[in-house]
Amino acid sequence: MDRYVVFGNPIGHSKSPLIHRLFAEQTAQKLDYSTLLAPLDDFSGCARAFFQDGLGANVTVPFKEEAYRLADSLTARAQRAGAVNTLSKLADGSLLGDNTDGAGLVRDLTVNAGFGLQGKRILLLGAGGAVRGALEPLLAEQPASLIIANRTVEKAELLAELFADLGPVCASGFDWLQEPVDLIINATSASLSGDVPPIAPSLIEPGKTVCYDMMYSKEPTAFCRWASAHGAAVSMDGLGMLAEQAAEAFFLWRGVRPDTAPVLAELRRLLAL
Ligand SMILES: NC(=O)c1ccc[n+]([C@@H]2O[C@H](COP(=O)([O-])OP(=O)(O)OC[C@H]3O[C@@H](n4cnc5c(N)ncnc54)[C@H](OP(=O)(O)O)[C@@H]3O)[C@@H](O)[C@H]2O)c1
Repeated sequence: MDRYVVFGNPIGHSKSPLIHRLFAEQTAQKLDYSTLLAPLDDFSGCARAFFQDGLGANVTVPFKEEAYRLADSLTARAQRAGAVNTLSKLADGSLLGDNTDGAGLVRDLTVNAGFGLQGKRILLLGAGGAVRGALEPLLAEQPASLIIANRTVEKAELLAELFADLGPVCASGFDWLQEPVDLIINATSASLSGDVPPIAPSLIEPGKTVCYDMMYSKEPTAFCRWASAHGAAVSMDGLGMLAEQAAEAFFLWRGVRPDTAPVLAELRRLLAL
């Protein structure tokens, strides 16, 4: 059986095995996908052992940068992101590193939510790994502007510099911004502790601004609740991004693009239990 895993530490909570099992059933692909708890001090040894006979892997916290260094070659978007969430073994045995997180986010926004990004004013909160992965795919959609706002402003400035050649991107602190934008994406981990980045409610134009939290949970996240309370047209969480980045990885490995809609519906049903 063709073997795939998701590496992480911790990894018990991962929904990836369920998602890929549903994709495999739907597309009649025979494969085995499981979790693999990699030791914090030996991700590369663990990955090399797996790839003796394994074909592909997803990589999650905290190993995305190590996977970037492990890969023998990189896609352009992984190169830009400086992080890898998908490894594929090529015919010559070498490992190709890709980053499907940003593509998953863009697909969730543009296809699932039907929200086109061209000409839009985008505010991205955070400057960590998720933002690195999102910047190239977001800028490829040709927004009018993309502001990266972060608690540690220097990190936002560094990213804005690194991606400046790809489009109109600039950096900011949270409290420097007042003018409404079309889309706010929360890519901070503040929601994990029930917090919302300290941004002005005036950034939301009631009935028009779309708000997206990369985090997801059974109940609406703190950011989604904040956005709805201030009149956001739509507040979405990141479950769709999770399903879409997985579909993108599945397509890379198997050459078949699964239909994410029924899988996302099943994930949402299970999350609500
Ligand atoms: N749905 C999906 O498929 C998907 C995929 C990837 C990530 N995510 C989610 O995206 C989020 C970020 O992930 P990541 O990998 O980018 O994490 P990360 O690399 O650790 O970066 C965390 C970011 O959050 C900021 N931050 C942390 N606590 C904060 C607080 N209390 N107030 C304001 N800012 C705060 C940090 O600011 P400083 O720089 O100032 O420390 C940093 O910019 C997580 O919630 C993760 O679950 C979802």
